[in-house]
Amino acid sequence: MTDLAIAANGLRKAYGDKTVLDGIDIQVPAGTIFALLGPNGAGKTTAVKILSTLVSADAGTGAVHIGGHDLAADPQGVRASIGVTGQFSAVDGLITGEENMLLMADLHHLSKGEGRRVAAELLERFDLTEAAKRPASTYSGGMKRRLDIAMTLVGDPRIIFLDEPTTGLDPRSRRTMWQIIRELVAGGVTVFLTTQYLEEADELADRIAVLHNGTIAAEGSAEELKRLVPGGHVRLRFTDPDAYRGAARDLREVTRDDESLTLQLPNGGSQSELRALLDRLDAAGIEADELTVHTPDLDDVFFALTGGADVTDQTDLTDQTKETVR
Ligand SMILES: Nc1ncnc2c1ncn2[C@@H]1O[C@H](COP(=O)(O)OP(=O)(O)O)[C@@H](O)[C@H]1O
Ligand SMILES: [Mg+2]
Repeated sequence: MTDLAIAANGLRKAYGDKTVLDGIDIQVPAGTIFALLGPNGAGKTTAVKILSTLVSADAGTGAVHIGGHDLAADPQGVRASIGVTGQFSAVDGLITGEENMLLMADLHHLSKGEGRRVAAELLERFDLTEAAKRPASTYSGGMKRRLDIAMTLVGDPRIIFLDEPTTGLDPRSRRTMWQIIRELVAGGVTVFLTTQYLEEADELADRIAVLHNGTIAAEGSAEELKRLVPGGHVRLRFTDPDAYRGAARDLREVTRDDESLTLQLPNGGSQSELRALLDRLDAAGIEADELTVHTPDLDDVFFALTGGADVTDQTDLTDQTKETVR
């Protein structure tokens, strides 16, 4: 398995008659960050659970190697080489951060002294030393996530699965998490992360796979994915609702955002394309209050690949409820 930390071929999983993963291939070179990108319900957690031996793929499908171990023949070997931080926290709120860490050390059969040393070191590394003696239920969302990752690192895994590590975090905690993930990889660890955020995949991942309808709709570096979209877009913002509605009616091929009174049109942003657009606006008597030019970003890729509608429509309320309960 040369230098692939994760190699999966034709991974398939159905629940009842609902196909969640319809034969996906994943290859993650050792020491890199791989992002599985998709909206709620796309099958990200299912993929993580299969790859981390928590759920079995459908019989007779696919071959998976993790850290050189065959998932079907040697699940123990796989388990020994990975760490998993789930979408929903493994932190026990009733005991302190330190006690959570020591519990993990016990699970990994570290001696008392070694366990204390590793726990102290990781708590320090994730800026939790001061909070170590407080019940974890008193921690902020960001602190809980940091503790969760610290717990995953007790066994010193070389391959780490992070299922939506920043969902629900405030922007500052998100940046801290990104920094933590970069440091992990700098230390030689391989990271498989899932995210709903294009920005996050763009920011962190060496390779990104877009999960859509049970298959990988596209795969590549952020740059490669962006090249799939021929051009960027122009946004026109209005302050007068009537002017907005009129413009939306007159212009074809626009994406409307009725709340912010903004129209989005495909446009490559070159001088000639912009001039053509301005001429068109003038001819139609349309005057926007603001015009901005956007080069293609991962959002454009996602919309191009998935036909647009899915990203915000598929809000999974059960997930959000769980988030607030924990
Ligand atoms: N244990 C299960 N039994 C039945 N359906 C499931 C189970 N786990 C997940 N699903 C369904 O599989 C689909 C993918 O879920 P999941 O992998 O959690 O998606 P994501 O993590 O991308 O939000 C969803 O439609 C979900 O309802
Ligand atoms: Mg999930």
